[in-house]
Amino acid sequence: TEKWVLMVTAQTPTNIAVIKYWGKRDETRILPVNDSISVTLDPDHLCTVTTVAVSPAFDRDRMWLNGKEISLSGSRYQNCLREIRSRAGDVEDKEKGIKIGKKDWEKLYLHIASHNNFPTAAGLASSAAGFACLVFSLAKLMNVEEDPSHLSAIARQGSGSACRSLFGGFVKWTMGSKEDGSDSVAVQLADEKHWDDLVIIIAVVSSRQKETSSTSGMRESVETSLLLQHRAKEVVPKRILQMEEAIKSRDFASFTQLTCTDSNQFHAVCLDTSPPIFYMNDTSHRIISLVEKWNRSEGTPQVAYTFDAGPNAVLIARNRKVAVQLLQGLLYYFPPKSDTDMKSYVVGDNSILK
Ligand code: PMV
Repeated sequence: TEKWVLMVTAQTPTNIAVIKYWGKRDETRILPVNDSISVTLDPDHLCTVTTVAVSPAFDRDRMWLNGKEISLSGSRYQNCLREIRSRAGDVEDKEKGIKIGKKDWEKLYLHIASHNNFPTAAGLASSAAGFACLVFSLAKLMNVEEDPSHLSAIARQGSGSACRSLFGGFVKWTMGSKEDGSDSVAVQLADEKHWDDLVIIIAVVSSRQKETSSTSGMRESVETSLLLQHRAKEVVPKRILQMEEAIKSRDFASFTQLTCTDSNQFHAVCLDTSPPIFYMNDTSHRIISLVEKWNRSEGTPQVAYTFDAGPNAVLIARNRKVAVQLLQGLLYYFPPKSDTDMKSYVVGDNSILK
């Protein structure tokens, strides 16, 4: 066999929804019951780094996640690989003397190595960064000439929230109305420079894997929660417009009110599900009370909170000064004393919060 390998490495940050996606209208294509809006984190903090390689020496597609081989047989991976392969272009590396034609990609196999620099499946949207990075790096390797919104529709088929990680800044995932999902794509609302006073702090309450995956949680909510129906039809459409306006005008008071209310409604939907789903714990609730009290005592909101499918708090401070006060408050009320309460969590340096 010929002895060459062609590789591409990419790094993709995760994103945190401020208007949540919860519930699919089509499980196979991953089409949501409502629009959602998120903010993409800085690329260096919570991110996935993925290297994809192609070589005629490979005899099948293989993938390693955090150093451990995982199966690619699930439909989420298969759908992403199939969609990307079908759009592959011609690739030439003159230095190495490699020429891959469009058609050759069907006969070539891939090796994929992916690393998260944060706990996998602990409600920190690891799948969002993961699938976005997979699709992005494969698109680069195979010279797929599609704009990020088209790529987002492919990443969406890996994990819904992944479609929003193909852009920085504030991003909207429009649910779309077409049956084939071609209009269920992410669009950038504002880039990362638009509102760069904001500081996002993630308080890792627990890095344990969640008990209910978002996939099965959503399915149960769609099947049993009346509140979900009401939320999707009556609440989110208006909230999306209000949030777009708050972001556009950098209106922190509205932003906070909408973000916190939406997080709380998402967790209320989880409680309204049968059997009920509990993602937050006592520490999460204490953080909410603390932030609510602080915002009220200041007269104007200083910090927004939001929680995904896990107990960890995502706190958005209006500026650096507030972020420092917030960190001091968290360290005071939740001293990092044991493994069980606010678990210490290392990202790059030794701070417990990032
Ligand atoms: O894309 P998934 O299956 O990881 O679902 C994500 C769901 C939430 O994180 C709870 C909300 C969201 O919009 O990201």
